[in-house]
Amino acid sequence: MTTVRITDLALEFAGTSPVRALDGVDLEVPEGTALAIVGESGSGKSTLASTIGRLHPRSARIVSGEVLVHGEDVLSLSDRALRVYRRDTLAYVAQDPIGSLDPTMRIGNQLKLILRGIGDDCSPRRQVELLDGMRVADPDRVRRLYPHQVSGGMAQRVAIAMAMCRRPKLLIADEPTAALDSQVREEVIRLLFAQAKEQGTTLLWLSHDLPAVARWCDDAAVMYAGRVVEQGGASAVLGRPAHPYSQALAATDPSRARRGERLTSIPGSPPVLEGASAGCAFAARCAHRIDLCHAVRPEPVGARRSLCLRSPEVASQGTMQHEGASV
Ligand SMILES: Nc1ncnc2c1ncn2[C@@H]1O[C@H](COP(=O)(O)OP(=O)(O)OP(=O)(O)O)[C@@H](O)[C@H]1O
Ligand SMILES: [Mg+2]
Repeated sequence: MTTVRITDLALEFAGTSPVRALDGVDLEVPEGTALAIVGESGSGKSTLASTIGRLHPRSARIVSGEVLVHGEDVLSLSDRALRVYRRDTLAYVAQDPIGSLDPTMRIGNQLKLILRGIGDDCSPRRQVELLDGMRVADPDRVRRLYPHQVSGGMAQRVAIAMAMCRRPKLLIADEPTAALDSQVREEVIRLLFAQAKEQGTTLLWLSHDLPAVARWCDDAAVMYAGRVVEQGGASAVLGRPAHPYSQALAATDPSRARRGERLTSIPGSPPVLEGASAGCAFAARCAHRIDLCHAVRPEPVGARRSLCLRSPEVASQGTMQHEGASV
């Protein structure tokens, strides 16, 4: 079974300088798996995630495409069906935990409302149990606090506890651990993935943390300039990337560097598209480009669905090193 199936999704932000944040995304997330979306800042990860929840801003216009979740077309749900979808299927954890909690309400009361909404036990004992499940220290005290009275790390655990207590079928986590220190991060990731596995929740994990992605996620999709340029098993995509952009991205991962070796960075910066990219959006930065790459829009090739005209040759060359690039 497939939980999420996205076909040719294109989205533009209106304004004096319009931005085509999604430029024809194709993505599949099998049920009960954890898929990471990786890619440089501005590649469209958050925009894609918010569109799956139909949470994208009003200034965004869907140009084309379809988002199916359990076969339902999310972009054309009625208001009522959308409320049911958000209540019964989807949970969303944002990068900014404090911002995602209601500042006017004690944490316990927020948990109570959610639990009552799904007809579950909403007693203080149950609230404590849920916070304890996310290893919140002194949960009975925390339940009586307001969000601004807890640390960022604590607020993120609370936000995850709130998301998971609804036993969502699909959890979208947008860099949920980026603001946490490394020890807390590891523990929160472990708890979240354990709960997702136990509940059979499909997980969409947006992250810049490539080692964590390789370690925890089943699959990975690499985004560049609003398209998924490659997808497949997480350790395969990051360990033996097929697309030149994935190769360049993987080479920036500090955990792959050997002692004494200089880390590479990707020269140049990603384009901000105003309309559909005519050719390959990565061509200007790609060491493998040929003239055709600027003119021909690449179509998916092979099991990884790599968007590269030169896919077979490039994939066999392994991780590309960018000459003279370092951080
Ligand atoms: N509300 C908005 N209005 C206009 N443009 C936007 C808006 N939100 C995002 N964008 C633009 O859309 C593109 C994709 O942004 P998005 O936030 O989805 O990237 P991202 O991959 O999540 O980046 P990051 O890793 O920094 O979180 C960027 O060019 C961004 O500037
Ligand atoms: Mg983002």
